[in-house]
Amino acid sequence: MSKPSTILVTGGAGYIGSHTCVELLEQNYELVVVDNLSNSCEYALDRVDKIAGRKLDYIWADVTDCNAMESVLENFNVEAVIHFAALKAVGESVRNPLKYYENNMAGTLSVLKAMAKHNVKKFIFSSSATVYGNTAQMPLTEDSPLGPINPYGKTKLMVETMLHDLYASDPTWNITILRYFNPAGAHKTGLIGEDPNDTPNNLVPIITRIAGGRMDELMVYGDDYPTPDGTGVRDYIHVTDLALGHVAALKKMTEPGVHIFNLGTGRGYSVMDVIKAFEKASSKKIPYKIVKRREGDAPTSYADASKAKRELDWQTKFGIEEMCSTAWQWQKKNPLGFKRPQ
Ligand code: NAD
Ligand code: WQD
Repeated sequence: MSKPSTILVTGGAGYIGSHTCVELLEQNYELVVVDNLSNSCEYALDRVDKIAGRKLDYIWADVTDCNAMESVLENFNVEAVIHFAALKAVGESVRNPLKYYENNMAGTLSVLKAMAKHNVKKFIFSSSATVYGNTAQMPLTEDSPLGPINPYGKTKLMVETMLHDLYASDPTWNITILRYFNPAGAHKTGLIGEDPNDTPNNLVPIITRIAGGRMDELMVYGDDYPTPDGTGVRDYIHVTDLALGHVAALKKMTEPGVHIFNLGTGRGYSVMDVIKAFEKASSKKIPYKIVKRREGDAPTSYADASKAKRELDWQTKFGIEEMCSTAWQWQKKNPLGFKRPQ
């Protein structure tokens, strides 16, 4: 019997990957996840199975291990790869750039080499709004100037460049680059959510932990930006909307090429807006203090996501209220993240 056509999801045990696996399973895709659990744990995949009511295949492997990637492609009939596996902490990437270049560049290279060898040429890449340079011109379109300023962001742009060169050398590749804005929130069941192995660096997981009593106080990085209330403005996107963006992209992979899409809501919220929305959703007070700006932070960043709407038939359904309420539900149901399985 021939093996069923399967989507390989690297980094599928992580925050965005696990939510995407749920949506793919619910739309009847067969999945194999490869993850080395460097920033996740296997319980996340048990929860994915539980939500979707069926099981995915999971292989522990490091994506930098090309032989391991080849063996996955030998054992499964992979039709397309969604490549989430990467390290993503901006500050750590500044302190330890080689770790980031190795993991994010060598990891992607090894996946692409194994794919080329096995003639699998559909690739969806997790890029980031961080590839855009600091510009005052908002909203950001896919053609806005590029210029990441930290090693993490540079790995994303370098991979994008590599993907353009790959397609130029072999125009049978079908590559989609998704530039995410600021993912937030959790699955509506409260069974999966964001659970980094280290202390979180991003605003919503930090606020979530403060509300849950796991951290004390939020440092608000600057209130002197040229924004309505002086705090930084970002385009927060619900992780389920983002996951559905991947399903939409996969369905539209009909034409070879390099297709680039912003995935955001098109709307910006300030740090103070997020604090207020979270306080409302959780009925908890979020203690905060204003400190100096964080180096490298842009005052404002939000997407023009009209290309994704036009070409992928995709648009966001959830707003900041659902991002905060689902993040809070995830925290309440899982006070220590996945560490204590239900
Ligand atoms: P995450 O850390 O929760 O998930 C990444 C997963 O990849 C983890 O499960 C980790 O264990 C795995 N992984 C890392 N290196 C690996 C390796 N060498 N081999 C195998 N597995 C490995 O992060 P996330 O928030 O889910 O992000 C997913 C992707 O989206 C990443 O590429 C990230 O750079 C990108 N992205 C994230 C954000 C964000 O704010 N969360 C924004 C834009 C882009
Ligand atoms: C959001 C706002 C902060 C923490 C980062 C990466 C980007 C992408 C998404 C992966 C800003 C403020 C934050 C805190 C604060 N990730 N803030 N106190 O910096 O927009 O983007 O995550 O690709 O590459 O750079 O997100 O959540 O860190 O910050 O005041 O403790 O919250 O200054 O205005 P950012 P963030």
